[in-house]
Amino acid sequence: MRILLLAIIGILQFQTSAILLHAETGRDAWLRYARLKNHALDKYAGLPASVVVHGDSAVLEKARDELIHGIQRMLGRTLRIERAPVKESAFILGRIFSLNRYISETSPPVIANDGFRLASVESGNTSSIVIMSPNDRGVLYGVFALLRKIALEEEIESLNEIHEPSAPVRWANHWDNLDGTIERGYAGPSIFFENNNVRQDLTRVSEYGRLLASIGIHGCTINNVNANPRVLQDDFLPQLARVADTFRPWGVRLAVSVDLSSPEKIGGMGTFDPLNPAVSKWWETRISEIYKRIPDFGGFTVKADSEGRPGPSSYGRTPDDAANMLARLLKPHGGLLFYRAFVYDHHLDWRNLKNDRARAAYDIFHPLDGKFEDNVIIQIKHGPIDFQIREPVSPLFGGLTQTASAVELPVMQEYTGQQKHLCFLMPYWKQILDFDLHTNGPGTYVKDILAGKSFGSELSGYVAVINVGMDDNWLGHPMGMSNLYGFGRLAWNPDLDASVIADEWTRLTFGKNPKVVETVTDMLLTSWETYERYTGPLGAQTLTNIVGAHFGPGVEASERNGWGQWHRADEKGVGMDRTVKTGTGFAGQYAPPIAEIYELLETTPDELLLWFHHVPYTYRLNSGKTVIQHIYDSHYEGAERAEDYVNQWRSLEGLIDEPRYGRALKRLEFQAGHARVWRDAVCNWFHKMSGIADEKGRVGHYPDRIEAEAMDLAGYTAMDIIPWENSSGGKGIECKAEESCTAAFRFDGDAGWYQMDVEYFDQNNGQSRFRIFVNDQMVDDWIADDMLPATKPGGDSSSRRRIGGLALRAGDEIRIEAIPDGLEPAGLDFVSIYPER
Ligand code: GCU
Repeated sequence: MRILLLAIIGILQFQTSAILLHAETGRDAWLRYARLKNHALDKYAGLPASVVVHGDSAVLEKARDELIHGIQRMLGRTLRIERAPVKESAFILGRIFSLNRYISETSPPVIANDGFRLASVESGNTSSIVIMSPNDRGVLYGVFALLRKIALEEEIESLNEIHEPSAPVRWANHWDNLDGTIERGYAGPSIFFENNNVRQDLTRVSEYGRLLASIGIHGCTINNVNANPRVLQDDFLPQLARVADTFRPWGVRLAVSVDLSSPEKIGGMGTFDPLNPAVSKWWETRISEIYKRIPDFGGFTVKADSEGRPGPSSYGRTPDDAANMLARLLKPHGGLLFYRAFVYDHHLDWRNLKNDRARAAYDIFHPLDGKFEDNVIIQIKHGPIDFQIREPVSPLFGGLTQTASAVELPVMQEYTGQQKHLCFLMPYWKQILDFDLHTNGPGTYVKDILAGKSFGSELSGYVAVINVGMDDNWLGHPMGMSNLYGFGRLAWNPDLDASVIADEWTRLTFGKNPKVVETVTDMLLTSWETYERYTGPLGAQTLTNIVGAHFGPGVEASERNGWGQWHRADEKGVGMDRTVKTGTGFAGQYAPPIAEIYELLETTPDELLLWFHHVPYTYRLNSGKTVIQHIYDSHYEGAERAEDYVNQWRSLEGLIDEPRYGRALKRLEFQAGHARVWRDAVCNWFHKMSGIADEKGRVGHYPDRIEAEAMDLAGYTAMDIIPWENSSGGKGIECKAEESCTAAFRFDGDAGWYQMDVEYFDQNNGQSRFRIFVNDQMVDDWIADDMLPATKPGGDSSSRRRIGGLALRAGDEIRIEAIPDGLEPAGLDFVSIYPER
């Protein structure tokens, strides 16, 4: 009887937790509005029962509906919509001028556009909550803020708060191609385009507009900066208008990237010289056609004279010539012109030690400061090169004192794991925003420049490259959206702590279980440094294949070519000399107090040492370690930390719904394996180059490993992996021209419980099948069907299958049977077997 009872209780408990943890896809992101638990429900029991909106617009309607939806989901109550003020408690929404009467103040505070006030107002026996703003969008933001407070179970009893965005420009960029692919997109096809047209069904665009609005983002450039001129064609404009109509109720303005050579490519003109009056006339007509259909069109983003894109230099003109021509035409309509400072020569002569791509943005744009129209914003990548794992702040932020500027930040994680690796970038972005450039003396923080405080700009701010896709969870990694959330929160308030953002996001996304919150925030907050540890050390940048997918290791890929992402590692040393005295002079682009710090080896912080200096491998860091030992140690530490994430996440099993738990686990397991690939590639490369051994004897010694090429092979043949360091021993095996192949070896250790890692190459051009046997017993099988950015075996495709709980005895035969598929030859690198820990 007792057993039966216990069983019933067990089933009930299981069902309760299953009910609480209903399956989620991540599509609602941080706007899940999960039902609050009883004690929290009590806290909000006294909230008003109705909602009144003063004013009439699509945005205000969204604000009202969102409030109803959020309250309904979290508190299980449906607010009554009242059309006229009522004599009972209510949520009262509207613009300031129509709501001031509710707050009897002689001089109500002035609130900036998009800002809002949340106030509790008592009158007689009613107690209302007023959400007011100078503009409709601000009211919507106020609603989201109030709902966030409830979702986080914050006190809202006697509210009187004013919130204003730090910067007037908070914008999203997408690199979507019109055919539906996304440049550097890692979560499925475009939500905007397919087959060279705008999608018929824009449901996801509306959902996305809602997410953007909930974090205060109010503009969105939807197509690739490497722009297709088709966006300006007659038949495309009504399609763009549909996107604008979808975004508008969420207060998001549509913008597009344009190809400066459009007059030539689609206008049939023989030139696109920005100073040619006929060219300007052509643009004028296009722009007026756009505004006829989209009266609140946001403007253009321009990538020119960069990575092969056409630009004003073709006619001996400068960026201000091109930017101003377009800006003047956009201005009467209220449009903005974002001109990207990512302008550089990608055919630099690498042999010239004075050449330096990092100098380009400042060298080109600083002399033009003050020459731009006032609706031009210079959009500057946060660092001088390109979204690397660690770069100093772009000196150009301090070099434009009379021109509006915006920082460009990579939510999509192009160089930081591409949504396969966890990498929460807020700690990094905080360092950037909090950096004091000293342009106006001490206290010229990047965040103040972007807020318009330092130089008085009225149009500066924040742009993120986001690249969400059709995948349910938007970015791919179940934790990837933390970077979008964080971007919006920081653009609104750069003084927020990274830990506060991580905490908010975790609780909104995964719930408030203290263990979940503690574990996930720890993982988030350490993940950027972890990724740095196993990829690019000491400011040498992400040591990835820069001419490939920017994903796996490729230590030498940056060298001996014109792209200028050099780290200049050779037999003697490593690092770029960017000093004024002996190097490229880049350090001199900073104001003297900063330039002096970076000029000297002793004062340059360790983490940027190799960015600014070329040093021997035996150079001792401030930490006391030599550079080479730091490279070894940090890569081992990073890979270990990545392994910890798997264990940390596993400890949350049952506390997070299964689909999101399982999906994240898969990614974290991949990350841990790939971190090992990175570790070995970087360590072995530097080991060979420097000829200096690892003090701890790890590099080059892998006693647990059995190389695939050393196994007994049937059908399989050995192959060289290029570059060599991206596989164990520089070789792997492939199954070509056979229906199936086997690789076998005998285990020669003591009897016991073991764990086995099979390192295989999972390309995206086939789905090979692997089966593992111990003697005649199959112990595991899987299909290599991940979509990694690789059509060849190597560092981009190297993956790990971990098989635990194997009882092995000396003499056991371990056999891998593989069936190749398509162009994927069921490649194998090695197997490692070690006692279960
Ligand atoms: C990076 C990225 C390109 C992109 C470019 C840009 O180099 O790899 O795909 O076009 O940045 O920002 O314009």
